[in-house]
Amino acid sequence: MDRDEARLRIDRLTEELNEHAWRYYVLDSPVISDAEYDRLARELEAIEAAFPDLVRADSPSHRVGAAPRDDFPPFRHPSPMLSIQNCFSEAEFFDFDRRIKKFLGTDDDIEYMAEPKLDGLSIELVYQRGLLAAGATRGDGTVGEDVTPNVRTIHGLPLKLRGSDPPEQLVVRGEVILEKVHFERLNREREEAGEPAFANPRNAAAGSLRQLDSRITASRPLSYMMYAAGLPVPDVDSQQDLLRRLEEFGFRVNPRSRFCRNAHEAAAAYAELLSARFSLPYDIDGMVVKVNRFELQRRLGEVSRSPRWAVAWKFPPVQETTRVQRIVVQVGRTGVLTPVAELEPVRIGGVEVSRATLHNEDEVRRKDVRAGDTVVVQRAGDVIPEIVSVVLARRPEGAAPFAMPERCPACGGPVSREEGESALRCANMNCPAQLRERLLHFASRGGMDIQGLGEKIVERLIESGRVRTAADLYRLDKEFLANIERMGEKSAANLLAAIEASKRRPLPRFISALGILHVGEHVAGLLSQRFSSIDALARASAEELTAIPGIGPEVSESIRRFFSEPQNRKIIEALLAAGVTPIAEEAKNTSAGASLAGQVVVLTGTLASMERSQAKARLEALGARVTGSVSKKTTLVVAGSDPGSKLAEAEKLSIKVIGEPEFLELIGMRKD
Ligand code: IVH
Repeated sequence: MDRDEARLRIDRLTEELNEHAWRYYVLDSPVISDAEYDRLARELEAIEAAFPDLVRADSPSHRVGAAPRDDFPPFRHPSPMLSIQNCFSEAEFFDFDRRIKKFLGTDDDIEYMAEPKLDGLSIELVYQRGLLAAGATRGDGTVGEDVTPNVRTIHGLPLKLRGSDPPEQLVVRGEVILEKVHFERLNREREEAGEPAFANPRNAAAGSLRQLDSRITASRPLSYMMYAAGLPVPDVDSQQDLLRRLEEFGFRVNPRSRFCRNAHEAAAAYAELLSARFSLPYDIDGMVVKVNRFELQRRLGEVSRSPRWAVAWKFPPVQETTRVQRIVVQVGRTGVLTPVAELEPVRIGGVEVSRATLHNEDEVRRKDVRAGDTVVVQRAGDVIPEIVSVVLARRPEGAAPFAMPERCPACGGPVSREEGESALRCANMNCPAQLRERLLHFASRGGMDIQGLGEKIVERLIESGRVRTAADLYRLDKEFLANIERMGEKSAANLLAAIEASKRRPLPRFISALGILHVGEHVAGLLSQRFSSIDALARASAEELTAIPGIGPEVSESIRRFFSEPQNRKIIEALLAAGVTPIAEEAKNTSAGASLAGQVVVLTGTLASMERSQAKARLEALGARVTGSVSKKTTLVVAGSDPGSKLAEAEKLSIKVIGEPEFLELIGMRKD
């Protein structure tokens, strides 16, 4: 290949690869396979190696990182990067709206853009004549750190602006983030390599971007979104148009940004965002509301280095600090010993938290939590609160490291740790703590739903010696119950009635109540669609079980093991003999649409006929579970228009995908 040919081919490949990377990382809709992309990338690399002086400034090969540096040179921002004032409640937000109207001397509605407040690391990018010239962190707002080689490695961040007529200079601002899945994977890898884990995605993003060796940055799957411009501002007159313009330039912008005609619409956007918070693939800690019109922004100006025209409406915090009173060890229904920190009660996101799980022995050792420590506690979504880190500076003198007990704290029996497992287990099937948990699980709402059978009574029943298995519950009589401590005649009668009523529960609830390892409500739903009785399930082979979509070898093995245990079979026989009659068909067929019990559905793209929240509610009413991302457990993907990467993911995993018409039919809403 001669020089002219090489130049032509390099031009062609660079442009093609950039186009594909933009489709993949920014639009989320690739048109070629990864293998095809790699083939083109390798071809480009080979030609670039032969003609190094022909490598273009926007070549994708720059994404691999450059030689390490000694430090980060200071970078003076062309115009200062301001910070934003916070507000913490709807009342404060409406105060903000009133202040703006007062300042502008108007009663008219103010238009706003409501944008997710990404919890990452803010950056500024400078493009000269369309080419990425510099990237910098915020620093103190006036001077930041020059991290240009590092930002070049971020996939989907344009090295060259799209479009044929780039401005002389463009200064854009946004946030570098690490999506939650990547954060978790990174931490797992670090733990395996014996390196300290990052406390949260923001720290991981910051730690990854601020690497003197940009090849390390390149190895981290960082992402970003842009949301603002520095001076000179591109030729648009509102924030809404600016975001559109940024998109045209090839940047990722947040698809969840909302145009709001007034403060009320912004408040509605906040509620929507707050409820979506934990299902987003990245962390957000609030919503930034910006006056939409630039003309108004100019008139409003700034006070004390924050603009008057923007406010960061924060979400309730998910982390708080508190003190560990003591560490106790709980025995679960399968005998697993779980260390739990008892905390000085603290309110997190509107809920009082007084306990946090420490998961297992390895976890306690890794975090080195001790009684008396001040700790950072986190609540994320519906998960059990957990301890993020210890504030070592506040550790009391003489605090002793925690050690797991050598015997079961409930029955005194030996505990063991199985090969390759992180959990310690009490092997005694009759351990009262296990029995207690098994009974509580059996009686819980997702199980046999025996109202009135709470912790205290279960403990009494076990102490009395009359109840050793779930089947014993069905042999209790009023006289006995009324005599156990703290139970009057009336409550005894109520409890007996509740036990009687529990005899006829749907089969999936009965299966779930048995407490088979890995078999929760969802798996129980799948099993009861395939097997019409508990007997049929007990006889099922491993092959029959794994043939059910959504059931893997681990779950199947656990089911087999449960039913091969003579004691478990005896309990089931005794339950059936006592009159427990699980009902095979879920009597759940509501007005229209089939029962979707056991289905795990993911929605992607836009539906023409309803909001996503409505679609979700409808699916749930029919018994389906609706989740935010596609995984092996997903059984169905509903794709509206402009579906995102979830569609590709579903296709990769061969998960059934349906469009809007089939979806409407499925939920019984077909309007013919
Ligand atoms: S606008 C003057 N928009 O929140 C306004 N900031 O200032 C400049 N942040 O550190 C910022 N998401 O890094 C803006 N959609 C968004 C944002 C956002 C996150 C961060 C930004 C800054 C902090 C508050």
